[in-house]
Amino acid sequence: MDKILVHGGVRLEGAVRIGGSKNSALPILAATLLTKGKCVIDRVPDLSDIHYMLTILGRLGCEVERASGVVQIRAEKILTEAPYEIVRKMRASVCVLGPLLGREKAAKVSLPGGCVIGDRPIDLHLKGFEALGATVMVKGGDILLEAKKLQGARINLRGRHGPTVLGTGNIMMASVLAEGTTDIEGAAEEPEVIDLANFLIAMGAKISGAGTQHIQIEGVPELHGANHTVIPDRIEAGTFLVAGAIAGNRVTVTRTEPKHLGAVITALKNAGFELSHTSDSVTISPNGSRRPLHIETLPYPGFPTDMQAQFCAMLATMDGTSVVTETVFPQRFMHVSELKRMGASIDLNNHRATIHGVERLSGAPVMASDLRASAALVLAALPADGITEINRVYHIDRGYEAIDEKLNALGAHIERVKS
Ligand code: EPU
Repeated sequence: MDKILVHGGVRLEGAVRIGGSKNSALPILAATLLTKGKCVIDRVPDLSDIHYMLTILGRLGCEVERASGVVQIRAEKILTEAPYEIVRKMRASVCVLGPLLGREKAAKVSLPGGCVIGDRPIDLHLKGFEALGATVMVKGGDILLEAKKLQGARINLRGRHGPTVLGTGNIMMASVLAEGTTDIEGAAEEPEVIDLANFLIAMGAKISGAGTQHIQIEGVPELHGANHTVIPDRIEAGTFLVAGAIAGNRVTVTRTEPKHLGAVITALKNAGFELSHTSDSVTISPNGSRRPLHIETLPYPGFPTDMQAQFCAMLATMDGTSVVTETVFPQRFMHVSELKRMGASIDLNNHRATIHGVERLSGAPVMASDLRASAALVLAALPADGITEINRVYHIDRGYEAIDEKLNALGAHIERVKS
């Protein structure tokens, strides 16, 4: 397993180009199953999660070609079974359920296993499929969906922890070919849901309201191939802005969408940083004095859970006491014990971290646990004393394109040691 060595004590400066959104690209690639026509998807990031999705699509019978960020897919004849050995590698494999059910009225996909960021049920996805007329069975570790026909329905997708992002995508994808009208209430409002809706619309679907809590889908008999460019990854952009906050003189993220970064920009400004933006870039400068933060993760447009770990890393060395409350995935705090190994002072109480800023962290061997926790460790290591050795970096490669190379281009000193 590769590891990363971060030599601490550097200052970052310059611009970094942001790639396409992982969490948009995954359901969009799955949506190509809905048509026999050729789909061309641009700005697909080069990540291991994307590779798993393309492998699943290949196993389902799709012809897949990939060249420098452009993926061409033709799903002329497809199978409806996705076997465990590939599905288990990525929880987002569940987003093939909706399109398989929508097109073939049947799907057999392994139930995703446990996830380090907490229990991640898919009850809301299944409730939505049932409302559309499918029978849902869980047998031998597989989810089996079957329907004679799918009929539009009114479905509320809001759960105990708020709306579901992939659940909203799955029900949109299952209902675009259903008869009649589907009303999704309590829909997720994330930009990734809008991006998926825009791709489905380009394929001939009739969808309105994406980006609000109420999405309406009018079923059509069939979809056709389409071209689409994936939106910029707002979490990658946010992560580099926090790198700038932690260790930057001045860092600019380019080819991004500032509108999608509202809550992150506000939080950084509240912490005392200076931020400015153009139509497609955001710059962070260290001017001003620091203030501790109280932040709470929430569904979009609130502060994203996918930025929580990176902010914990930043707040660990900022004067004063900050409080970070996680409401979307209450157990998503694996980074805390690793940050403590580097000298952070953090009290964890259920879904709340109280962070007492210390002057400096010191390099230590630490373990990457999930994608964002791993990114947080890289960020924490940038200004730390000495060398931080981060093991199990495959977690980072799931969601960040060459994070080590991009940080090095800004002035970091990071080595990747191949095993
Ligand atoms: N939930 C349920 N039942 C369901 C589905 C979700 O109770 O059927 C709960 C979850 O347990 C959680 C909350 O609802 O407490 C929100 O989960 P959601 O379904 O929105 O998460 P997701 O769609 O599975 C996506 C992203 C995550 C991101 C979340 C929240 C992808 C591939 N994943 O997951 O991204 O944290 O939305 O914004 O889009 C990441 O990129 O690191 C990552 C984990």
